[in-house]
Amino acid sequence: MYESLKRKVAIVTGGSMGIGEAIVRRYAEEGMRVVINYRSHPEEAKKIAESIQEQGGEAITIQGDVSKEDDMINLVKETVAHFGQLDVFVNNAGIEMPSASHEMSLEDWQKVIDVNLTGAFLGAREALKYFVEHDVKGSIINMSSVHEIIPWPTFVHYAASKGGVKLMTQTLAMEYAPKGIRVNAIGPGAINTPINAEKFEDPEQRKEVESMIPMGNIGKPEEISAVAAWLASDEASYVTGITLFADGGMTLYPSFQAGRG
Ligand code: NAI
Repeated sequence: MYESLKRKVAIVTGGSMGIGEAIVRRYAEEGMRVVINYRSHPEEAKKIAESIQEQGGEAITIQGDVSKEDDMINLVKETVAHFGQLDVFVNNAGIEMPSASHEMSLEDWQKVIDVNLTGAFLGAREALKYFVEHDVKGSIINMSSVHEIIPWPTFVHYAASKGGVKLMTQTLAMEYAPKGIRVNAIGPGAINTPINAEKFEDPEQRKEVESMIPMGNIGKPEEISAVAAWLASDEASYVTGITLFADGGMTLYPSFQAGRG
């Protein structure tokens, strides 16, 4: 538990399931006041908020599509209207939809870039606007992926979006470091969430993914929310511009394991 997080206000985009839900729940356990942003799952978001309230925590839900400028402006505005402040913004929402690159429609390319990259920019921009205007030494956390450095055939839009998130994180970190605002990213490996539930339910596909992870197992959302708690806390006060990989070693070139190569 991080004492410095108590009573801080955090927005988590795409907070109604998967990694986003785990971050929402961990932040609430830390005593933070949390805004669960959702696009299309109001019931799930409300259920999470209610269960946090039942445990004595504070959480509200705000609808909004991260790829829409007005929605992101409204998200910060409503948060501040309700809680009176903002300290942490987690750009978590993300989508993926594979297809061979030569057959990928412009629409699909655009959709993934709009949500994963432009959405993260809009969230960061609105948070920065608030932090600068109110002299808040806030923290922004962008959900990247191991695919900010590992190429991923048939996911060219996804890999390009996460590569973009990496350099956006570093650029914003440098630009706002003099104001004490920290901007970091998390690079999860394979994590068991709805985004890949189907893949991991198939024993063969699961085994294949596990073989690409030196630690040998697929990660849990709670192993990512733990990183999001630390990065937001004062324990990480000197950390900015990094991507912290939580991937069981997936980025370590596992094909070289046991001296192969
Ligand atoms: P998920 O599919 O379980 O959850 C994604 C959430 O984002 C959902 O709540 C969804 O409704 C929301 N969302 C999607 N489009 C949105 C939009 N336009 N506006 C607002 N919300 C929107 O996925 P998961 O696994 O929890 O992923 C969360 C983040 O972690 C994503 O950015 C993903 O790229 C990243 N990630 C996930 C990995 C994994 O293995 N699960 C690995 C590496 C990165």
